[in-house]
Amino acid sequence: MKHLIDILDLSVEELQELIDTAKDIISNPAKYSEKCKGKKLATLFFEPSTRTRLSFEAAMMELGGNVLGFSEAQSSSASKGESVSDTVKIVSCYADIIAMRHPKEGAPLVASMRADVPVINAGDGGHNHPTQTLADLLTIVREKGRLDNMTVGFCGDLKFGRTVHSLIGALSRYENINYVLISPEELKLPEYIKDEMLIKKGANFKEVTDLEGVIPELDVLYMTRVQRERFFNEADYIRLKDSYVLTLPKLESAKSDLSILHPLPRVNEISVAVDDDPRACYFRQALNGKYMRMALILKLLEVK
Ligand code: NCD
Repeated sequence: MKHLIDILDLSVEELQELIDTAKDIISNPAKYSEKCKGKKLATLFFEPSTRTRLSFEAAMMELGGNVLGFSEAQSSSASKGESVSDTVKIVSCYADIIAMRHPKEGAPLVASMRADVPVINAGDGGHNHPTQTLADLLTIVREKGRLDNMTVGFCGDLKFGRTVHSLIGALSRYENINYVLISPEELKLPEYIKDEMLIKKGANFKEVTDLEGVIPELDVLYMTRVQRERFFNEADYIRLKDSYVLTLPKLESAKSDLSILHPLPRVNEISVAVDDDPRACYFRQALNGKYMRMALILKLLEVK
């Protein structure tokens, strides 16, 4: 049985297969509308979410399936002290596939070892978020027509930003990607990711603190929110939260075909004035997430 815990669980060929399926879903939605008839997806969300949970639910509904689940730990038996292992063992009796978000790094991995059905990591603490990466990859392909040969800037909270970790892991398998890592000193990309995904693979990368100076080089700019919930103290969060704010004047020196991505939610990192710029891709990116989650559900349920 196949799970999706880490983006590296999928080969480059499998990523391509998901992208191809998602594109086919976009062109022929009717063909897919009954593919998961009689199947149930459980969304077990122990942490807040809007896009990830609702796009998973919409994805399953558009495949003709049903959904059940909870959207906060407080409304599940976790609040009575039940372990993740027990929760998934039980949910395996009620659902055919599980999407789980949890504040503890590794919780979905533990769940996958105990579950009798496929488990999808929908975000585990400050660690990984592979299905956001699927949305990001489809967005880059649709906007740029390729996943190789480009300069990608990652800006904001690269330390706790799980979407950044997973996307760097995925991109590390494509040719000739240059990485520009833009963050305050305190929120730099963790050493283990830098070592495994960039240094060992001989990738071209640099770490900078200034966004404006590097904007002209970028083909893709991946903005992120400072992850307040992962901070140990509020004063540090307040000091760092507005480190970067992307505005229209800052984009004047950017390439005309720059693609601006953001996993959302946005707090202050991108001025709303940027939303109307054709280079802003983040709302299209959220929609792409639904198509890729449809493709992923089909793959893990082995629906032809
Ligand atoms: C991200 C997450 O949960 O890590 N959101 C999402 O799933 N689109 C990013 C974030 O919360 O900042």
